[in-house]
Amino acid sequence: MRGASRFRTHGSEQMINRLLARLRRPERGWDPVPAEHAARYSALEWANVDLRLLDDLEARIGGLAGKTVLDLGGGPGHYSAAMAQRGARVTWHDVSARYMAIARDKAAQAGLDGRIEFSLGYLDEAPGLLGRRFDLVFNRICWYYGFSDRSFAAVLVSLVQPGGFVYADTTHAAYRHGELSASARLRTWLNGAFALKIGHPMPPRGRLARLFLQHGPARLEVDYRSPTNDRLLMQMPGAPE
Ligand SMILES: C[S@@+](CC[C@H](N)C(=O)[O-])C[C@H]1O[C@@H](n2cnc3c(N)ncnc32)[C@H](O)[C@@H]1O
Repeated sequence: MRGASRFRTHGSEQMINRLLARLRRPERGWDPVPAEHAARYSALEWANVDLRLLDDLEARIGGLAGKTVLDLGGGPGHYSAAMAQRGARVTWHDVSARYMAIARDKAAQAGLDGRIEFSLGYLDEAPGLLGRRFDLVFNRICWYYGFSDRSFAAVLVSLVQPGGFVYADTTHAAYRHGELSASARLRTWLNGAFALKIGHPMPPRGRLARLFLQHGPARLEVDYRSPTNDRLLMQMPGAPE
């Protein structure tokens, strides 16, 4: 595990992102997602929900029906809706009010009015804002918006019931690395080498698994088949409450 000792930088690695988050408040109108991007991404994603992913997830966690699910960084709400349609009790949480408006509207159009709870805030603030744990925390393509990789893994774990699951899918540091600006390359290197996270660099491949292992999972399944993404399913020990 190269770099494991350097990786223990405790609270400092997330300080800059935490400070920025104090200034940029979603409840005061700050939204990191431009309207045009939100509209384009929503249209694309709603047309391409990966139902095989959900079938596979259901097979591995014992179905979605009746389960409480947190779609953490739910964006346009397409997976929130798809999981609600399979009988899950879904909470959508995201920092973008633009996506919240889109997700609410789309859920209503899909006949799911009132069946999804919506919560606005930073991803890392979900434990404090929601104040409860879930059977499944679903985190797709937004891991890198966490304040730091280490603290974000702890956030996800803190949101799961005993016996519950975390599903995470993230692009990693090698993804489109050649297209990054000099600043983004430097920040990606700082995050990879020292776990010092400024902004939203992607995690090095393999880091999520190492972090989740530190939380003593009952089960950890890692899927590295994609050259660009780390995909993990973790189950915490214990019986569901
Ligand atoms: C690529 S989208 C993924 C959305 C959804 N989970 C999916 O599977 O399509 C990234 C999400 O991260 C959220 N996000 C959280 N913090 C963010 C930040 N600081 N800057 C930009 N986006 C952020 C966005 O609002 C958006 O919903």
